[in-house]
Parts: sequence; C-alpha cells; structure tokens
Amino acid sequence: MAHIVSSPCLVFFICFLFPFARPFTVIMSDSGVPSALIDGPQTGFSMNNNGARTDTREQEAVYDIMRATGNDWATDIPDVCRGRWHGIECMPDQDNVYHVVSLSFGALSDDTAFPTCDPTRSHISPSITKLPHIRTLFFYRCFTDNPQPIPSFLGQLGPTLQTLVLRENGHVGPIPGELGNLTRLKVIDLHRNNLNGSIPLSLGRITGLKSLDFSGNRLTGSIPSLSFPILSIFDLSQNLLMGSIPSSISTCRSLVKIDFSRNRLTGQIPESINGLMNLMLLDLSYNRLSGPLPMSLRSLTSLQALILKGNPMGSTTIPDDMFDGMKGLMILIFSNMNLHGAIPTSLGRLPNLRVLHLDGNHLNGSIPISFRDLKNLSELRLDDNGLSGPIPFGKEMVWRMRRKLRLCRNSGLCYNANSGLEDSLDPTFNSGIGLCESPRPGLASTVQHLSAVEREIPNTVKVSSSSVHKCSVFVGLLEILLCFIVILL
Ligand SMILES: *[C@@H]1O[C@H](CO)[C@@H](O)[C@H](O)[C@H]1NC(C)=O
Ligand SMILES: *[C@@H]1O[C@H](CO)[C@@H](O)[C@H](O)[C@H]1NC(C)=O
Ligand SMILES: *[C@@H]1O[C@H](CO)[C@@H](O)[C@H](O)[C@H]1NC(C)=O
Ligand SMILES: *[C@@H]1O[C@H](CO)[C@@H](O)[C@H](O)[C@H]1NC(C)=O
Repeated sequence: MAHIVSSPCLVFFICFLFPFARPFTVIMSDSGVPSALIDGPQTGFSMNNNGARTDTREQEAVYDIMRATGNDWATDIPDVCRGRWHGIECMPDQDNVYHVVSLSFGALSDDTAFPTCDPTRSHISPSITKLPHIRTLFFYRCFTDNPQPIPSFLGQLGPTLQTLVLRENGHVGPIPGELGNLTRLKVIDLHRNNLNGSIPLSLGRITGLKSLDFSGNRLTGSIPSLSFPILSIFDLSQNLLMGSIPSSISTCRSLVKIDFSRNRLTGQIPESINGLMNLMLLDLSYNRLSGPLPMSLRSLTSLQALILKGNPMGSTTIPDDMFDGMKGLMILIFSNMNLHGAIPTSLGRLPNLRVLHLDGNHLNGSIPISFRDLKNLSELRLDDNGLSGPIPFGKEMVWRMRRKLRLCRNSGLCYNANSGLEDSLDPTFNSGIGLCESPRPGLASTVQHLSAVEREIPNTVKVSSSSVHKCSVFVGLLEILLCFIVILL
C-alpha cells in the first residue's frame, strides 16, 4: 500500500557568517521531489521502533563514503541511520526501511560539527551514486591537500539531488558539464576552489535553481546567457570572467543578490536590468565596465546596496534624478569610477542612506544642500574630487560620522563661519578645508594645506583599510538580512 505523504515545503536557510569570509546561504529544500519517502520527524527512528532498519546497499555505500574521507570509525556503527551522527539524515519509506537523504562533512563552527575529512587523502567515493534518495551533499574543506576535480559521476544524482555544496575544498579543473543533469538542484555552491575553464552551458537545464555561488575560483570565458526563473542569489565574484553582462540576466526575475565583482567584465550594464524588481544587492565592483550608467537602474526600487566601485566608466556623468526610484538604498559605493559633473541632488532624498562613497572621481560643483537631510548617513567619502563651496550640513552630522567623514583633496570646500565646523572636522581626513569667504585665501595658506595633506597620506591609508573592513561587515549584515527576506518569499 503506497502511503505517500507529500512533502511540505521545508526550506532551511542557514546563514553562516565567518569572521574572515563573507556569509553564505545554504538552502535545503525537500519539496517537489516525487519519492516514496515519508516525511516524518527526524527523531522518529528510535530504539523502540522495532521494525526499522537502514537499506543495506545504502549502508555499504555510506561506509565507503565515510572511509574515503578518513572517517573509518563509521564502519563500526551497525546501522548508520540508527546510530546517527550529526551529518547524516535518513527518512523511512512505507515499509519502514530507512534511506539516506543527506550527508555533510566539515567543521563549520563549534555548533555545526559534521565529520571532518582527512584533507591529505580524502576523496568523494563513487559509491555516492548508490544512494538513490540523496537530496543534500555538503563537503566543506575536505580535499584541500589532495586537490582533485569535481567528479562527473555526481551528475548521476539527477533524480534526487537538491543541494550540492562543495565549498573551499581545493577542487581543481573545470566544472563538469554533467552537473547540468542535476535538474532538481536548488542550491549549488562551489565557492573558493581552484576551478578553471568556463561555466558549462548545460547548467541552463537546472531551471529550479534558487542559489548559485561559484565565487572565488579561476573561471574564464564569458557569463553564459542562462535563464533561471526562480534564482535569488547569483554570485560569480572573484573569478576571471570576461565579456559583457548578458542582457538575459533580466530573465532571472527573482534575483535578490547579484555579485559579479572582481572579474574582468567589459561593456555597459544592460538596460534590461530594470526587470529585476526584487534585487536588493548589486555588486559589480572592480570590473572594466564602461558608461553610461543605464537609466533603467532607476527602476530598481528594492535595491539596498549598489556597488560599482573601481570600474573605469569613462567620463560618465550621473543624471540628477538617478536615485529618485531607489528609496530603500542604504549603501552606494561609486569610488574611483572616473565620474564627472555634479553630485546628483537625488542622493539627498534617500532617507535610509547610510554609506555613501563617491571618492576618487572628478565630481565638481558643490555638495547638494539636500545632504543635510540624510539623517541616517554614518559614512561619507567625497575626498579626491573637484568639489567646492560650503559644506551644507551641521555639527551633529559631522560628529555622528567622525572619522568616517572624508572631504580632503577637493578644489575648494569650506565651512561657513557660523556652522561650528571649525573644531568638529577630523583634521586627518578633512585637511585643507578652511573658512568660506575668508578675507585673504592667500598663497601661504594653500601651501600649508598641501604639506598637511602630504604628511597625512600614510595615516589615511592605514585607517582606510580598517574602514573598508567595517564596510564589508556592514555588507555582511545586509546579506544576512537578505537571507531572512528570502525565507519570507
Ligand atoms: C549527463 O550529461 C551528459 C552531457 O552533459 C550526458 O552525456 C550524460 O549521458 C548525462 N547523464 C548522466 C547520467 O551523467
Ligand atoms: C585548468 O587547470 C589545470 C591544472 O590544474 C590545467 O592543467 C588546465 O589546463 C587548466 N584548464 C584551463 C582551461 O585553463
Ligand atoms: C533611518 O532608517 C530607518 C530604517 O533603517 C528608518 O526607519 C528611518 O526612518 C530612517 N531615518 C530617517 C530620518 O529617515
Ligand atoms: C563640471 O565639469 C563639467 C565637465 O566635466 C563642466 O561642463 C562643468 O561646467 C563643470 N561645472 C562646474 C561648476 O565647474
């Protein structure tokens, strides 16, 4: 008698924030797989459940897999689903036979201690293909001293596998095209290996993908025109990818986070990006993108962080109303982009703006008076531009930002006599700023300012790296927020 209980949509988001790495998301979902397994509580396999036993072929396969990772102790466990360790999950079928649905390896944290691998001799056993119900495979820091390619036999797990995490494992060689056979996959995470070659087109077959993270590898070639209708996280950062961002990105309509930073991407940001109505984080920093900025960016109303730093946009100006649609924007990082012209006044109308970096450009004119209204602003960098005129905000704002306010090396910024800024501005980052309409802004004072700037340079560099770290913590917090929002979706 087939007594099949249909799986409820179980979506677990585990957001791990490593102290020195960026957070990542593991989505484990067991919805949508037709199988004869009964979704019971994971503790249901108790000692007094007399008839229950583990499928014998799967048991042998688990022993092989455990031996291949240096965990020989597991072979002393007479029933792997009964004598469970943290890192194996099983589920019963209607005949009370237990099947292995999840295997995890690697010490993630003190709380999440899966069996660790012996990094000098571990490999993934081909016996993994003898687990016909496996939904989740998780290997973390397993093969670092025994570098090996990702085995193509993983492609044989197509009928059931939903989560494949091979993170920081030291894998070499290409991403096998066979992974495109994993058509039920929802999460694929190959972060920080030494993978090379290009992104296989066959991955386009995985239409139910929710999270793709290939960051921190050596992938080359261009980003293929793939369409993932329910993908929410798309991370290809820190690779060697070239070519332009495909306009087909707009077909990934559920995207919440795009991180293509630190590649060699060229061309313009595609206008079609305006279809991404859920996008909260767009990081294209440190590529070779060129201008102009697409006007369609304006319709990304969900955007919270926009990071385009370090792209030589090519004498681009920012339209004054560029940011009017982005009411939720919290982080805008446009440093070193060869931007010209005036600072858009629409920036002053973003109530949630916390971090604004426009340093290292050729922006001219004055700081918009609307900047007075940025009550949430805690970090402002306008240094190394051609700005002039009075600083429009008062003491409270300067005190709030303290050393995170940087206005130095501009053409002629000054403070008004009654503003109280004279003693508030941190001299390290704001040297060379004097009283507006000072009676004799003579040569002598200019020379003095320049030498002050020179003296401060080493200091500036030191402090700015700590500030960059703080900013990445900020982005990290935002990513955690994203995780929780995706849970709600
Ligand atoms: C997987 O995909 C490749 C092509 O990408 C194909 O040749 C192979 O037969 C497929 N099936 C399996 C089970 O790997
Ligand atoms: C990938 O790296 C391996 C060495 O790990 C090398 O032999 C191979 O030629 C590389 N392939 C590409 C496409 O760069
Ligand atoms: C600052 O941001 C919070 C949300 O993070 C918002 O509720 C608040 O209204 C903002 N402050 C101002 C003055 O707009
Ligand atoms: C700012 O620079 C642009 C050229 O980049 C120039 O056309 C404009 O007149 C300048 N504005 C001011 C106020 O200097």
